[in-house]
Amino acid sequence: MKPVKVGVLGLGTVGCGTINVLARNGKEIARRAGRVIQVTHAAARDISKHRPCDTSGIELVTDPTLIVRHPEIEVVVELIGGDEPARSLVLEALANGKHVVTANKALIAVHGNEIFDVAQKKGLMVAFEAAVAGGIPIIKAIREGLAGNRIEWLAGIINGTSNFILSEMRERGADFADVLKEAQRLGYAEADPTFDIEGIDAAHKLTILAAIAFGIPLKFKDVYVEGISKVTRVDVAYAEELGYRLKLLGIARRINGGVELRVHPTLIPYRRLIANVEGAMNAVLVKGDAVGPTMFYGAGAGAEPTASAVVADLVDVVRTLTTDPTNRVPHLAFQADQRVDLPILPMGEVDTSYYLRLHALDKPGVLADVTRILADLAISIEAILQKEPQPGEQTVPVIILTQRVKEKNMDAAISRIEQLGSITGKVARIRLEHLNPTWN
Ligand code: NDP
Ligand code: HSE
Repeated sequence: MKPVKVGVLGLGTVGCGTINVLARNGKEIARRAGRVIQVTHAAARDISKHRPCDTSGIELVTDPTLIVRHPEIEVVVELIGGDEPARSLVLEALANGKHVVTANKALIAVHGNEIFDVAQKKGLMVAFEAAVAGGIPIIKAIREGLAGNRIEWLAGIINGTSNFILSEMRERGADFADVLKEAQRLGYAEADPTFDIEGIDAAHKLTILAAIAFGIPLKFKDVYVEGISKVTRVDVAYAEELGYRLKLLGIARRINGGVELRVHPTLIPYRRLIANVEGAMNAVLVKGDAVGPTMFYGAGAGAEPTASAVVADLVDVVRTLTTDPTNRVPHLAFQADQRVDLPILPMGEVDTSYYLRLHALDKPGVLADVTRILADLAISIEAILQKEPQPGEQTVPVIILTQRVKEKNMDAAISRIEQLGSITGKVARIRLEHLNPTWN
């Protein structure tokens, strides 16, 4: 059989990782795929740059349209990232009858509905395993392995960079900016690292996971997004004292005929496995009605872990080159005409527990005022911790853990607490999830 000719757009961290894995494991991969996978062309902005992969035998171009228009290339691997020109290149590749593999979650989350419509009409594959949780085969697991289940919820650490930053800050007391630089050096961070730190990258991935878990369209704009840039070391330390660890979680949950979609820093009891996922590792908990809770763990970023997923998609594409397009695994897990447009709940309707940190004047009656406000809004307290005042400070830090309550009640309570004369500054709030297997 003739080799399958592949064009790679982008020779950065993932592009080079993919070329290295294909070169090293080529024979084994061909035994799995049924045909040799040959990268014939690759595009980058600067083709004279020294790269950590061997590109001899590959025609290098600076104009990626030469690849998406090349008559002999059957599969285009898009590893440029971002919105444009990635979107136009993918659409042009599909228009020219080429299958597409991409690691670009921003592209799929924002333009996936358009791209999959085109691919569906042309009978082509768009594979995107590497777009979520790096090397963890979570797309395949949900789309195929859990196809017998009604997925109830999923919660994941799905941004390696922010998990790396939180871990290094906690374990080594490292400085936020230094750890971010290290994550960039290691190739974990996005071209614009604010996507990692502000939760946008995790929201892209959550959008994709929710679509394949619940059979809904991709709804990136409806995700509530809060990143880790405002997390302080004191909150991490107080939470640890109370038995919780802070993680940036993406949560998607079916509830009351709608879906919660949210990314925010979250406290998790540290006895949970997922609370112990450190560094650039990712983990996704998926609760299905038949299987119960499952957890998928592995490297969430980096050259070869991501290449592992890109190459697995290439193998899938090659295997299905001869398959009737209508009988392939649907792009977004559910048949295209069976998607249901469930509403995404406003954040005010979300039920969660909270960690609150406030600064109170050290005098009688202050805590009573605070607890009265919480009681008025039907917010039950789980624990209270009052710390010693810092030297020279007039106020004492008070930490409160609450039971589950609607976010709109908590918003109202915080606003009233902040108006008390005995409370200084803003109330720090971190959502807290127990992630019990019985959560539904
Ligand atoms: P890099 O920034 O390392 O690489 C991007 C590559 O695209 C570079 O080789 C660059 O060329 C090339 N490029 C950019 N613009 C153009 C253009 N207009 N024409 C031709 N080539 C172009 O990104 P990554 O490899 O880290 O990421 C690629 C994709 O994979 C992104 O979508 C990212 O979100 C995703 N991803 C990344 C992971 C990771 O760990 N890094 C993990 C999972 C997904 P040049 O080198 O000459 O500048
Ligand atoms: N920037 C991403 C992360 C890369 O840190 O998780 C993997 O998608």
